Amino acid sequence: MKVKVWRCRICGDPYIGAEAPTHCPFCGAHSEHIILASDWDDPRVASLSDTDRGNLEKALKIEQSNTAYYRCSAGKAEKAGDFEGFATFKALSKVENEHASTILKMLGLPKPDKEHTEECHDAYVDNVKESLKREKNATKFYAESASAATDPRVKEVFAALSTIEADHIQLDEDKLAKLEE
Ligand SMILES: [Fe+2]
Ligand SMILES: [Fe+2]
Repeated sequence: MKVKVWRCRICGDPYIGAEAPTHCPFCGAHSEHIILASDWDDPRVASLSDTDRGNLEKALKIEQSNTAYYRCSAGKAEKAGDFEGFATFKALSKVENEHASTILKMLGLPKPDKEHTEECHDAYVDNVKESLKREKNATKFYAESASAATDPRVKEVFAALSTIEADHIQLDEDKLAKLEE
């Protein structure tokens, strides 16, 4: 099978595969944001308004906090021998970390020297419940930030992020339904 190089217009990361992935393996953006690397058009912010900057700064805090929260949750699940829980939280922490990197780039900021850390619950179910709260908050805030955005690139990224976090809500709701069975 012949492979090609694809690239995500949201996080900018490249991917090698025969087909474009349904979701970016790095940031979770949906397939409409994934193009052939040969068609790359270098999407950038044209001008950052105070509103957009403020919302991106808030988004950065959300993403850094969620990355750290999921890293803690993955560690607890691993310790408990829960492989599925570990995989879920590890994947979430990687995706949220990618979002934080994307936002840092848009703000023109360097990577922080110190990694943000956060406490989490011991029990898997409590971490899923907390995740649901965090993802609902992020989805709503990103949808509002997308409608308020003045720069087209900022609007595009916030709209994509809102959709990605909504996928995480679905994941949490499926988990909780399964745990309550
Ligand atoms: Fe991506
Ligand atoms: Fe995120």
